[in-house]
Amino acid sequence: MSLRVDGKRLLRDLAELAEIGRDPGGGLSRTSFTPADAQARAWYAAKCEEAGLTLELDALGNMVAGLPGRHDEPAVWSGSHLDTVPHGGAFDGALGAVAALECVRRLAESGPQLTRPVRAVVFSDEEGNYNHLLGSTAMRRGFSEEELAAMTGRDGDRLVDALDGWPWARGSRTDTRVDPARLHAFAELHIEQGPTLEQQGIRIGVVTSIIGLSGGLVRFHGRADHAGTTPMDARSDALLAAAQFIGAMPGLARASGPASVITTGRVRVQPGGTNQVPELAEVSLDFRDPSRERVAAMLEAIGRSAQEAAAAHGVRAEWHPDEIVDPVPLDEGMRALIADCAADLGLSSIDIASGAGHDSQNMALLTPTAMIFVPSRDGRSHVPVEYTTDEDVVAGADVLLATLRRLADT
Ligand code: GLV
Ligand code: MN
Ligand code: MN
Repeated sequence: MSLRVDGKRLLRDLAELAEIGRDPGGGLSRTSFTPADAQARAWYAAKCEEAGLTLELDALGNMVAGLPGRHDEPAVWSGSHLDTVPHGGAFDGALGAVAALECVRRLAESGPQLTRPVRAVVFSDEEGNYNHLLGSTAMRRGFSEEELAAMTGRDGDRLVDALDGWPWARGSRTDTRVDPARLHAFAELHIEQGPTLEQQGIRIGVVTSIIGLSGGLVRFHGRADHAGTTPMDARSDALLAAAQFIGAMPGLARASGPASVITTGRVRVQPGGTNQVPELAEVSLDFRDPSRERVAAMLEAIGRSAQEAAAAHGVRAEWHPDEIVDPVPLDEGMRALIADCAADLGLSSIDIASGAGHDSQNMALLTPTAMIFVPSRDGRSHVPVEYTTDEDVVAGADVLLATLRRLADT
C-alpha cells in the first residue's frame, strides 16, 4: 500500500485557509502583502510550528519549511502560493501550498528518513499584486534595489513601502537567489484553471509546458481640464487614448497567433473626478503565448499601438514592459514519474499544457521541475466560484506525495 496524505487534515487546512481574506460577498481577496496575506502567512507558520518544522524566510516574503536535522543533501522542494487575485477563489495556489505542507508532515510521520530532505515552499506575490511571480523570480535571479523601488500596486502604492514592516521577511532584499546546488527537484500541485480534465473525465494532468508571458503598464499623459468649459476639440483626454488602445488589443492578439491572449485588466485614471478631463490613464497589460518570439513581437506591437492611440488623441504615451517570462517545457523524467505515480494510485492521467503562469516556470530554470493538475469545475478560476472536489484535492495530493517520496529516495 502506498503512503497516502491525511486527507481530512488537508481538507481542514484548506477550509481554514479559505476563511482568511474572505470577501463579504463571497470569494477571497488575499492579495499579496496585505493584512489578509500576513494573516495567511501567520496561519502557515503556526501549522509549521505545530508540525515541528523549521521555517526559513527571505527578504521578499518567500517561506521554506522543512524538518530540522542534519540533512545537507540537495532537497526536493514543493509548493505554491498563498496570495490570491482580488475576488479570487480558494484553490489557486492554496492547494499546492497546503498539499506540500501536508506531504512534508506525512513523510515526517511515516518513519524512516529519506535520502534527500523534502521542503515545502510558499512563494510571495505569485499573482502580481506588485510583480507577477515575484517570489520565484527573486529565487531565480534576484532583484536590484532599483527594480524593487519601481514596483507598484493597484493604487500606485510601492512594493518597498508594503515590505517595510512586513512580518514575514528576513535578510537582504537583493540577496534572495537560491543556489541551484541546494535543489534536487521541484514539483507543484495546482488546479488546472481550465476545462480539459473535467470535460475528458480525467483525474490528473501531467503538465508538459507552461506558457510564455509578459506584461507591463502603458501610461497615457494628457491634460486635466474642466468638463463643462473645455470644448471637445480643445482637450487632451488621456482616457480616450487608453480606450482606443484597449480596443485595439483583441485584433493585435488575433494577429499574433491562435494561442495568443492579451488582457487589459486594470485602468487607473487621474485625477478621477467625474467633472474633470482625465490627465492620466494607466492601463495594465498581460499577454501570453506558448512561443517566446510571439510574446516578444506582441511586446513591440503593444508599444506601437500605444503610440498610435496617443497620437490620435493628442496625448503622450509611455510603455513600461515587464521582462518576458519564457515558456518552459517541464522535466520529461519527472513527467513520467508523475504519470506512473498516478497509475499506481489507480488514477487516470493525460498530458496537458498550462496557459496559466506558475512559479514552476522560474523553478524550472533552477532545477528539474514538474507540475500536477487536478480538475477545476467548469474550468473556472480567478473567480469566487473556483472549485475542485474533495476527492480531486486528495487525489492530487496523493500523487504529489508519491512523486516527492520517489524523488527523495532514488
Ligand atoms: C497566475 O495565475 C497567472 O497565470 O496569472
Ligand atoms: Mn496559481
Ligand atoms: Mn492565479
